[in-house]
Amino acid sequence: MAVPVPERRIAEFEGFGFGMFIHWGLYSLLGEGEWILHRQGMPLEQYAKLKDRFAAEKFDAGRIARLARRAGMKYCVITTRHHEGFSLYDTRGLSDFDAPHSAAGRDLIAEFVEGCRKNDIVPFFYHTTLDWYQKSFNDDFDAYLDYLKDSVEVLCRNYGRIGGLWFDGNWSRKDADWKLDELYGMIRRYQPEAMIINNTGLQARGQVVHPEIDSVTFEQGRPEPMDREGRPKYLAAEMCQTMNDHWGVGRADLNYKATGRFIENLCACRKVGANYLLNIGPNGDGSIPMMEAAILETMGVWMDCNGEAVYQGRPAAVRGDGENFALQADSGKLFLFVFNLKVSGDANVTVDSGGVGEKRFTGVDGKVARVNWTDNGEELDFQQDLGSRALAIDATGYPYGVNLAVRVAEVWFD
Ligand code: GLC
Repeated sequence: MAVPVPERRIAEFEGFGFGMFIHWGLYSLLGEGEWILHRQGMPLEQYAKLKDRFAAEKFDAGRIARLARRAGMKYCVITTRHHEGFSLYDTRGLSDFDAPHSAAGRDLIAEFVEGCRKNDIVPFFYHTTLDWYQKSFNDDFDAYLDYLKDSVEVLCRNYGRIGGLWFDGNWSRKDADWKLDELYGMIRRYQPEAMIINNTGLQARGQVVHPEIDSVTFEQGRPEPMDREGRPKYLAAEMCQTMNDHWGVGRADLNYKATGRFIENLCACRKVGANYLLNIGPNGDGSIPMMEAAILETMGVWMDCNGEAVYQGRPAAVRGDGENFALQADSGKLFLFVFNLKVSGDANVTVDSGGVGEKRFTGVDGKVARVNWTDNGEELDFQQDLGSRALAIDATGYPYGVNLAVRVAEVWFD
């Protein structure tokens, strides 16, 4: 059975490879995560007053987009409205629980879109479907669905071409009729090129829930290879992840992952052709936590060497030993991803040299002309057996002063 050909928007999305998720809302002022309203049982009226303090005085969309670009990201997904029900955009009369009616007095999504476009970043809109603020969510679900559709229509009609709509919350009412045909039909009418994504949540990673969906989601989990044979449509895949343990800023969440983990996770996503959507949680005033900006900078250093492999490399029939794997560009060029290499150096300073030596790959066709590391261009010895389609490279360790967590070798063919 054949694998379907991806529609253009889906192929383009896959080529983005790496994106930024942004969780920002009234909850950011409290610095205890985006679920704080629900978790703490704070009276809704009291919580809603946060909007009078939400001045967004340090929100600089251009800076955020530049940070994303520096990290090698191609798109940004921002919470235009999260479960708290507050909209960062001008709802144009649908509700006064929105940014123009807050202390900010501005349409923050208009600023976001402009910041992205100026910096070559494709803007995407996260939009909640679960709403803790809107009474109709519990009292009159049909009326709520109208409000939701009208809200999304505002986003589709007032901000130019957007990369996609990223929904989240249908898992809160699994058996409800969300009238998705109507919602998605409206999006296709105004934004025919937009991706439609609807997060299936932690409990149902990778599930396909509606024929209009363009990408499956793997919230906080490494994606599995996609089985696309005989499917009616080619779907992309995306894994979103927090830098620490919260999406919305957790001021006292110190549990940031090590930067090597982000690199490994990005690689694990690309191994199966999925995108990696890495989250930041701006502070209440819109500024970016120092650690998060630093992590993005660090990713940028790795992407400077390996952007080509990330954007152009596709899952290939080539297999490596252990965690090692390969991607192949349409041009035929292979990228070998090598894990667990250590820093070479003096035994009195280098804790754990090793991990170097032969790395074997199978399924390699065509005569190899040259193999070199992407980061420093160093040429590597290799042995190839065309008959058994085997390639072994002699992996040198990181030069003293360097450790990239995952090292990539490019393979050129005759
Ligand atoms: C979850 C959470 C939410 C977060 C989302 C991101 O479903 O409800 O707070 O926005 O995941 O994937």
